[in-house]
Amino acid sequence: MDISFLLVILQGFLLPLLKAQPGFLNLDCGGTIAYADDIGLRWIPDSNYLFGKRTNTSLTSNNETQYKTVRYFPADDRKYCYNLNVTTGLRYLVRATFLHGNFDRNSVYPKFNLSLGATYWDTITITDVTTPVTTEMVVLAQSPFLSVCLLASSSVRFISTIELRQFIGSMYYSEFERQYLMFMVARINFGALSNASVRYPDDPFDRIWESDSSRSANYQLVDVSPGTQKVATTKPVYVSWDEEPPMKVMQTAVVGNNGTLSYTIYLANNNFQRHASAYLYFAEIEDLNPNETRQFGARFPWGPTHLEVPVNVMENAGGKYRLYEPVFFDISLPLLTPLKFRQTNDSSRGPILNAFEIFKYNLINFGSLDSTAMDSLVSIYPQKEWAQEGGDPCSPIPWTWVQCNSDSQPRIISLKLSGKNLTGNIPQQLTNISGLVEL
Ligand SMILES: *[C@@H]1O[C@H](CO)[C@@H](O)[C@H](O)[C@H]1NC(C)=O
Ligand SMILES: *[C@@H]1O[C@H](CO)[C@@H](O)[C@H](O)[C@H]1NC(C)=O
Ligand SMILES: *[C@@H]1O[C@H](CO)[C@@H](O)[C@H](O)[C@H]1NC(C)=O
Ligand SMILES: *[C@@H]1O[C@H](CO)[C@@H](O)[C@H](O)[C@H]1NC(C)=O
Ligand SMILES: *[C@@H]1O[C@H](CO)[C@@H](O)[C@H](O)[C@H]1NC(C)=O
Ligand SMILES: *[C@@H]1O[C@H](CO)[C@@H](O)[C@H](O)[C@H]1NC(C)=O
Ligand SMILES: *[C@@H]1O[C@H](CO)[C@@H](O)[C@H](O)[C@H]1NC(C)=O
Ligand SMILES: *[C@@H]1O[C@H](CO)[C@@H](O)[C@H](O)[C@H]1NC(C)=O
Ligand SMILES: *[C@@H]1O[C@H](CO)[C@@H](O)[C@H](O)[C@H]1NC(C)=O
Ligand SMILES: *[C@@H]1O[C@H](CO)[C@@H](O)[C@H](O)[C@H]1NC(C)=O
Repeated sequence: MDISFLLVILQGFLLPLLKAQPGFLNLDCGGTIAYADDIGLRWIPDSNYLFGKRTNTSLTSNNETQYKTVRYFPADDRKYCYNLNVTTGLRYLVRATFLHGNFDRNSVYPKFNLSLGATYWDTITITDVTTPVTTEMVVLAQSPFLSVCLLASSSVRFISTIELRQFIGSMYYSEFERQYLMFMVARINFGALSNASVRYPDDPFDRIWESDSSRSANYQLVDVSPGTQKVATTKPVYVSWDEEPPMKVMQTAVVGNNGTLSYTIYLANNNFQRHASAYLYFAEIEDLNPNETRQFGARFPWGPTHLEVPVNVMENAGGKYRLYEPVFFDISLPLLTPLKFRQTNDSSRGPILNAFEIFKYNLINFGSLDSTAMDSLVSIYPQKEWAQEGGDPCSPIPWTWVQCNSDSQPRIISLKLSGKNLTGNIPQQLTNISGLVEL
């Protein structure tokens, strides 16, 4: 056979594989095979991971392969971390999911904390066996890997998936990103045509935009103003700037046909009076007559309550079918967060809203001052289990063979290297751990 012909065939097979999702990682914890799912995401098993055990869930109703297995860990005092390679200086969405699926046939459901490196992420509380618990953050990679850690617990711990999505350009840039991780509280697609979420491939970054008519575990939309109607278009909406929301999300909206559009967002599991940020997404998607206008005042709980921020979507976006995205950083959100939009007297149309995102800020814990030296030390022993514990050597829980002092950025005071089969000279890296008093 002609070799170029063969190449053509090969390309035919390889191209769909190579045209992968750049910057995506889908780790099927406890899985054994690589596969593509119904929406085209390619999953890989965590079979190189050294800790915990794989097992099958006993799901019958859920077809998603990634939920048919879990990796689980005993109840103990240590942490279990997955290290994920990233590119320093880029922003990532990090998502972890937990679907119990009755994997241990135990009616006492797990509860444990999760950290990203040394920084607290979320508390995972399992309350039933069939609903996946999902938690997500947007982070700036400040080192070449991120580590997702399941922290010590008196209950069995488990994990179903870990997903990474790399953002491009300045998406989700904030001046606080070196001090805070952005914990995703709500991402709402208003005017959604069904209960289904919008995600990949409609969102090339695979954010999950929840339908405003479905029930969310993290928030509830209450006190919806009368006269609120869904509107939708099939015309393209220009979305390629700022946070680049998916077109499908921007093609639907809610409109306050009686002059006001208001919601109260009940942040059920996120009772916080602290730093947060809010992203509002608007686009004019109705065909207004040339003599018609849509102008409204927006009242936010984080602003002075008497102040209305004027919004004219078409003017702000530079035309119809174009994104206008005001963002509010470093705001405080009450448990009941009201959003109120009121049509101005000279406007012929009521307020419109296409989508909304809220993040709260988790203060970054930079962990041990010796972490760079320790990362460099353990990288010499890629085959050794003790060198693969991952995460920060001291925080929030130290590695099993490391002792740290109690400084806010702890220093290592002792290493138990006996029985670790270290041969030859004392590794150079140890000379950089200045507080070390014992080997
Ligand atoms: C999990 O399920 C797979 C396929 O259904 C099966 O081959 C495997 O033996 C099961 N593993 C365990 C630990 O039950
Ligand atoms: C599960 O798979 C069956 C057959 O493979 C299919 O008919 C059904 O729609 C799937 N259900 C879900 C929720 O994907
Ligand atoms: C992550 O990066 C390290 C160091 O560059 C490399 O040895 C390792 O193979 C990478 N892991 C994966 C899963 O790509
Ligand atoms: C999670 O962390 C918080 C704060 O450090 C702590 O109060 C809580 O007891 C932890 N929960 C579990 C289940 O470990
Ligand atoms: C959509 O979700 C709501 C709230 O959970 C539920 O009441 C409704 O039945 C769902 N509709 C469909 C079509 O599934
Ligand atoms: C909207 O306003 C009109 C007239 O002001 C009123 O008749 C109608 O009942 C209102 N609709 C709703 C849903 O409040
Ligand atoms: C706009 O113009 C149309 C006819 O072109 C007219 O029917 C309508 O009442 C006008 N609307 C307003 C708000 O003036
Ligand atoms: C708009 O109309 C309301 C009620 O008719 C009136 O109280 C208010 O002063 C008007 N606002 C402006 C800016 O004209
Ligand atoms: C150390 O080496 C011995 C012999 O090669 C081996 O049996 C033992 O498992 C090793 N221990 C560790 C912690 O790697
Ligand atoms: C020790 O730290 C210094 C300065 O931080 C660095 O230049 C050097 O490469 C480190 N040595 C080792 C062996 O890690």
